[in-house]
Amino acid sequence: MRNERVSVSKNRKTMKIIIAITGASGVIYAQRLIEMLLQQEGIEIFLTLSKNSALVIEDELKVKIDLQRFSPEELFGEKGKKIVYYHCEDLTANFISGSNHFEAMVIIPCSMGTLARIAGGLSDNIILRMADVALKERRKLILVPRETPLNYLHLRNMLELTTAGAIILPASPGFYHHPMTINELVDFVVLRVLDHLGIKLDMPIRWQSPQLRCIMNL
Ligand SMILES: Cc1cc2nc3c(=O)[nH]c(=O)nc-3n(C[C@H](O)[C@H](O)[C@H](O)COP(=O)(O)O)c2cc1C
Repeated sequence: MRNERVSVSKNRKTMKIIIAITGASGVIYAQRLIEMLLQQEGIEIFLTLSKNSALVIEDELKVKIDLQRFSPEELFGEKGKKIVYYHCEDLTANFISGSNHFEAMVIIPCSMGTLARIAGGLSDNIILRMADVALKERRKLILVPRETPLNYLHLRNMLELTTAGAIILPASPGFYHHPMTINELVDFVVLRVLDHLGIKLDMPIRWQSPQLRCIMNL
């Protein structure tokens, strides 16, 4: 009888989440998502940025970054030290192989360009490859596109990706929580992303029926 060593995988104590920021408008969504994830226990964050995201980050956050030398502290202060950053062309990143486990990947904001390339099965940077891995390994892939209006190709690519198992979660906030600030609009979208990551936060931006509001005196 062969003496095979069977290794039993230990219960995972941490959740590994990959965040990719691409060159669509709405970098603030990624910034806020990461800030909220950093407040949670047991989450490991791996961050990568597309080359074109640097331009949008500079435009929208007024932070000039050099992707070769980027450190997450530039965007997240001291807490950024907890984030592992990969350059988008760093093919040594563990997660380009399905044999290295991660629980979920979020592309936020997701440009129509990146969305189309994933739908087309391309994988010539690590964002595309890790998305490809997420799909093939049946792991959670959440795409947060920001574009309007949508043309036939955008819609077709989204349909392809939904069919392949991705979650298309457009950056499209609701208004039933009566937002008064940009942050409240941003939090609406980020909360939905967190919901889909299985992280349920109690924030006062969920829809409540008028009857319930009345009972609770809201
Ligand atoms: C300031 C700025 C804002 C942009 N906003 C969007 C956007 O909201 N949605 C989108 O799909 N592309 C947007 N683009 C275009 C993308 O950056 C472009 O298609 C790029 O090739 C995407 O590359 P990436 O997916 O590798 O990041 C924007 C570009 C710039 C410079």
